[in-house]
Amino acid sequence: MAMNPVLAIYPGSFDPVTNGHLDLIERASRIFERLVVAVLRNQDKSPMFALGERVEMLRETTRLFPNVEVDTFDGLLVDYARKMDARVLLRGIRAVSDYEYELQMALMNRKLEPQLETVFMLPAVEYSYLSSHLVRELARLGGSVTGLVPAAVEQRLRVKVT
Ligand code: PNS
Repeated sequence: MAMNPVLAIYPGSFDPVTNGHLDLIERASRIFERLVVAVLRNQDKSPMFALGERVEMLRETTRLFPNVEVDTFDGLLVDYARKMDARVLLRGIRAVSDYEYELQMALMNRKLEPQLETVFMLPAVEYSYLSSHLVRELARLGGSVTGLVPAAVEQRLRVKVT
C-alpha cells in the first residue's frame, strides 16, 4: 500500500534555537518528507528574542535542509496541525525529567485530535543537558555558549547581553 508523504510539525518556543534543536531537526529531516518548525506566537512568558528574530535564526540555521520550513502558529497546536494537514507532532525528549510534561501534552493533544501522532526523538547525548533557558542564563551571566548554539545565534546572544 502506497503511503502519503508525511508532514511533521516540530513546535516550540526556540528562544533561541540551540544545537540540540538542530540535531533533532536534522534527524527528523531524514525521516519525514516535510518538516515544519513552528514557533509559538503570543506566549505568556516574555521571550529574550522577538518572534521575528527567533524565526530568522531558525531560517538561517536550517537553510541547508531542503525539506525543512519555518513557520509561526498561535492558539491550539492541534488546530494548526489540522490546518497544515500534518500527521505528526515531533517533540524532543532529553532526560526522564522531560517525560512527564511531554506525556501530558501528547495525551491531551491526542484527546483533542486522535488522528495526530506525537513522535518523540532523542537528541545526541552531548545535547541531553542543553536547553534554551540555560543558554539564555549562561549568556546573561557571561558564560561561554560556544558549541551549544550555532555561531549566528552566539553572535546575536552577545549583542543581546551587552
Ligand atoms: O519549546 P516549548 O516552550 O517547550 O514548546 C511548548 C509548545 C509551544 C509546544 C506548547 O506550549 C504548545 O503547543 N502551545 C500551544 C497551545 C497548545 O496547543 N497547548 C497544548 C494543549 S495540551
